[in-house]
Parts: sequence; C-alpha cells; structure tokens
Amino acid sequence: MANRGGFTNKLGFILAAAGSAVGLGNIWKFPFEVGDGGGAAFVVMYLAFCFLLCLPVMVTEIAIGRKTQRNPVGAFKALGYKNWAFIGFLGILCGVLILSFYNVIAGWAFGYFIELLMGNFEIGNNFSEFTSNILKIGLYSILFMGATAFIVSKGISGGIERAAKMLMPALIIMISCLVIYSFTLPHAIEGLKFYLIPDLSKIDGNAVSGALRQAFFSLSLGMGALITYGSYVGKNDNIVSSAVYITLTDVGIAFIAGLMMFPLVAFNNMGDMTNLQSGPGLIFVTLPSVFGNIGPVLGVIIGAFFFLLLSFAALTSTVSLLEVPVAYIVDEFNVRRARAVILVATIIFIIGLPSLLGNGYSDFFSNAFTIPFFSDQPSSSDFLSFMAGTADTLLLFGGFFIVLFAGYIWKKHNLDEEISFGYANYKNSFARILINLGVTVVGPILLFLLFIVVVLNNFFGIDLIQKIF
Ligand code: TRP
Repeated sequence: MANRGGFTNKLGFILAAAGSAVGLGNIWKFPFEVGDGGGAAFVVMYLAFCFLLCLPVMVTEIAIGRKTQRNPVGAFKALGYKNWAFIGFLGILCGVLILSFYNVIAGWAFGYFIELLMGNFEIGNNFSEFTSNILKIGLYSILFMGATAFIVSKGISGGIERAAKMLMPALIIMISCLVIYSFTLPHAIEGLKFYLIPDLSKIDGNAVSGALRQAFFSLSLGMGALITYGSYVGKNDNIVSSAVYITLTDVGIAFIAGLMMFPLVAFNNMGDMTNLQSGPGLIFVTLPSVFGNIGPVLGVIIGAFFFLLLSFAALTSTVSLLEVPVAYIVDEFNVRRARAVILVATIIFIIGLPSLLGNGYSDFFSNAFTIPFFSDQPSSSDFLSFMAGTADTLLLFGGFFIVLFAGYIWKKHNLDEEISFGYANYKNSFARILINLGVTVVGPILLFLLFIVVVLNNFFGIDLIQKIF
C-alpha cells in the first residue's frame, strides 16, 4: 500500500478532528434546533447525549481507524468482517449527502462575508432573494468546493492539519465578544431564560431524537469521518483524552453560540420566545441587522470577520467530509489523491445542485419533499432540509451499527487493547467502564429505543416520551 501520510502529532489530530466537528452544525444548526426543540430541555438532553453516548462512539471510531489504518469500508474488511463493510458504505454515502448540501450553506456564509464587507446590513431582510440568486450562490458554492478540494488534495499534515490551526481560537474569541455584546441588549434575559431554564413539558419524541441527531451531526459521528481521521493517528497517542478535548471544544463552541444567539433572537422578537421563527435561515436573517446596530464601521469589521470565520469553520468540516470518500478511493482503488479529489468533488457538487436550486430559484426543489423517518415536519419541505433530515437519520443508523459491531462482533477486549496504546492505565480507568457500557449497553439500546419512539411518534401518532413524563 502507498504511503498514506498522517498527522504530525496528537495536537495536530485534535485540531483537525475538532475542526471537523466545529462548523455550521454549531453556529448555524444548533441554535435553530434548540429553538425547534423547545429550549433549555433540549440543551440538557443534548449535553447528556454528547458525553454519555457520543464520547464512547467517538473513541470507538478513532480506535477502529487507528487499528486498521484504512477508510471506513477498508477498515471493516481489514478486521476480517467483510459483511460489515456495508457500515462503511453507508457512511460514505451519508458523507456525500451531507457535503452536497453543507457546501451550499457554507457558500451562503461566504457570500455573507462579502455582503457585509460591502456594508450591506439589509441582507438579512433579503435572505430569500439572496438564496434564489442562483448565479451568485452558485459561484460561492463552486468556490467553496474548490477550496475544500484544494486542501484535501494537499493531504493530511500539509493541508488539513495546517488549515485547522489558528482558526479555532479566532472563532472562539469572536463569538465570545458577540456574547458579551448580546447580553447588553434589551430583552436579553428572556432569551437566556429560554436557553438555560429547562421546561420538562417541552420534552417529546421529536425533541429527544432531535437532540441525539444534533449531537451526532455536530460531533461528526456515525459515518466514519473519525474512522478515517483515526487512521492517521499515531500509536502512542491517547485516544480517550483526544476524544475528550474534541468533544469539549465542540460542545463548548455550540454552547456559546447559543449564548450569543438567544439574547439576539429575544431582542429581535421583543422578548417573545413563544413563536420562534427559526429554521435554516435563523443566523442569516437575525445577525446582519445586529451588526448594523453596532455601527457602520465597527459593524462592518465585526460582521464581515464573523462570517469569514464561520466560513473557515465550515471549511475544516467540508474537508473532513470530502476526505472520507477520497480516502476510500485512494486506498481501495489505488487512484492518485489529486485525481480522486477532482472526481469526488465534482460528483458531490452535482448531487448538491437540487439543494442549491431549492431555496427559491426552483419551485419544485423548494417545496416538493417530505423528510422521512425522524421528521417533525409532516408537510413538504425544500430539498436541502430533506437532505439534511435524511442524512441526520443515516448517522444514527450508522452509529447503531458501529457500536453493535464494536461491542458484539469485534468484541470489547479488542477495542480495549487498541485504546490501551497511548493510555497505559486504561484497563483500570473510569473511561473504560463508560466506553464499554457505551458500546454494549447504552449505545445499542438507546439508539434502538429511539428508533421505536420515532416510528411510533411519526407513523402512529403515539408519543411515548410525553406519556412517560
Ligand atoms: N460536524 C460538522 C458541523 O457541525 C459537520 C460534519 C463534518 C459532519 N464532518 C461530518 C457531520 C461527518 C457528520 C459526519 O458542522
């Protein structure tokens, strides 16, 4: 096998994996999912899922990757379980779907950078005109896919790792400043109450499944992205502590993004948090006027810089999404990296066209779809939301099979052995209990139960969770 390259050290891996995790999911998706899910109760479930379930899944993915040094499909084959390679295929498919629509939204973020640079604070009120301007957003999304392809073609340490450094700290500082600013606005307190004081009556089947889907999406789990990144990790690196840092970074950034958003939403709604207008437009509609309020010069600087950083955060995520199918083609078919990148990026861009067209430009792609399975939107929706909902669902399926595989097919002791490299005390640690429980009990049962809850809820109108509370 050709030299696959790898991360230079543990920090490089953590930054790249945190770069994959931190993205539009934290800043664009998390706030509107919290809004849909009813506020603080959703946040509490989200946090619990991240640490009790997702952390073990993350460690497992990284361990499978490092053990086999392969892409997700090759990994299951290399362990000797050809029949389980379907998990890898499912993951690659899922990554392709995610990147196809994610790239469109990332293009919007970059477009907002340009608009705010030109002082266009009105763009928030003209969001739907913006997204139906197909020439503009088409160009932005081509640019974005091009930048992603460029970085992935440079390989692991030269491209992916380098891009991830610097950007993360800048993003955290930027959002923190906006948090402070948003606290000073009238009605901030109503927004914070909505975000931080749980109302248990808001917990229903959709909120639970929404929180779990959001946790998987935000942590880049369930599709083998971290199997792939794990395949470039050194044997002396501690996987468990890496996973803890990645999770803390990701959850922390989502949490402060919420601290920033809800006071702003409350300000815009004059304190009324009952009828939230949210959905995919939330940050794009809400933020520009806020920057406008800051003042003409400072507003341009802060607003443009914010969307630039958001674009960079999205870029380290799109890179991880593209890396998975590319690694698959490079490993399994011996194609050169640069060629594989061009091929895959082009195909994914084409698959993304309906998502690009479906935000006002094409009536058909803007209305004609229903999200299967885990939907809380019974009526029709746009193609992009349909893709997002479908992909989220596939991540949970993927996660279910990954834990099932690790816990019962590959077996715990093999997982334990791999994790022990770089973590000599693992055998006697608390982490081991959490991880073993995660892959044998909590993960399979929770993911399976969730499936039942959601099927009952969406197809039979029975809300199990509401009944229990
Ligand atoms: N986690 C990223 C975000 O929150 C998106 C992402 C990147 C992702 N790679 C992934 C999601 C793999 C699921 C699987 O923006």
